[in-house]
Amino acid sequence: MAETVLRVDDLRVNFATRSGVVAPVRTVSFQVGVGETLGIIGESGCGKSVTAQAVMGLLPSRSSRVDGAIHLAGKALHTLSRRARRQVGGREMAMIFQDPLSSLNPVMTIGQQIDECLRLHTGLDRRQRSARVVHLLEQVGIVDPERCAASWPHELSGGMRQRVMIAMAIAVSPSLLIADEPTTALDATVQAQILDLLEAIQQHTGMGIMFITHDLSVVARLCQRVVVLYAGQVVEETDVHTLFARPRHPYTRALMAARPSADRAPKTPLQEIPGRVPALDALPTGCAFADRCPLAQPRCRGQMPLLRPVGAPSHQVRCWRADETGALSL
Ligand SMILES: Nc1ncnc2c1ncn2[C@@H]1O[C@H](COP(=O)(O)OP(=O)(O)OP(=O)(O)O)[C@@H](O)[C@H]1O
Ligand SMILES: [Mg+2]
Repeated sequence: MAETVLRVDDLRVNFATRSGVVAPVRTVSFQVGVGETLGIIGESGCGKSVTAQAVMGLLPSRSSRVDGAIHLAGKALHTLSRRARRQVGGREMAMIFQDPLSSLNPVMTIGQQIDECLRLHTGLDRRQRSARVVHLLEQVGIVDPERCAASWPHELSGGMRQRVMIAMAIAVSPSLLIADEPTTALDATVQAQILDLLEAIQQHTGMGIMFITHDLSVVARLCQRVVVLYAGQVVEETDVHTLFARPRHPYTRALMAARPSADRAPKTPLQEIPGRVPALDALPTGCAFADRCPLAQPRCRGQMPLLRPVGAPSHQVRCWRADETGALSL
């Protein structure tokens, strides 16, 4: 793999809730290389956003506890003070979200917001900053950048707002971009434009991207490697080709079988995965997927399988029966 931008080792997140401590992220490890896009997939509630927030240092310190090691561009973020961490984070990584309107400040113009970001994290003076604002908006494909800079967030379309968020994210040339379902709210054409844009920026800057999505067609289009999360754990990690051609974890296999495919008649209902993700206050001691798994055996319920390599060392699976699943058809 290319040089590593982000390395996360044994990340654990606990939340103090009224009904006790819950663990939405349990020993999650992964890496993102320079110029690489890592996909993070899994059903709702599996811990994707909490993982991203932990990496960004956005979780509230009063009600959450984050353990594990996070190295960003060679710096050990977990050893830094909150203040130092925010400084490094602000320069080296940026995040874009599903709903750009809620992340933009409604009482500042677009230009003021990008300017603020540049003022905080670069040494540029006022004039240089205002030129850079226009240049950034141009770079994300906004045709009238001066007009856009003078606009308020509510005056822009969803696609324009997401472009603005990307402009803000790349304003300081971060080495890592975290995208948490950034195109889910957009229609298909605009979604494709935004993905093209991210790819073009990545080719230009070499930033690593951690791309969280439910959409497997986005994974196929954008990612080189993929981490599958289930109940706060990595259950499979592999390159994107193997993910689609030879998934090994029964959960990943179920996700693949449930995806709409081009050759399926449009009216055919999607196959849903029966059952639900276990509740955070009722996580089983064994495999978290056992209750929904067609291959589960008594051992699966009694003992937690470890993540281990199957076939290639870069293909890791957390399943007692991973050696058998390769022989089954999807
Ligand atoms: N601040 C919090 N306090 C307590 N529990 C939380 C908090 N934030 C998230 N959770 C819980 O942690 C679990 C993981 O949530 P997370 O938002 O990471 O899911 P997700 O994989 O991003 O799902 P989605 O696909 O719906 O966005 C969920 O059960 C969620 O309810
Ligand atoms: Mg989420």
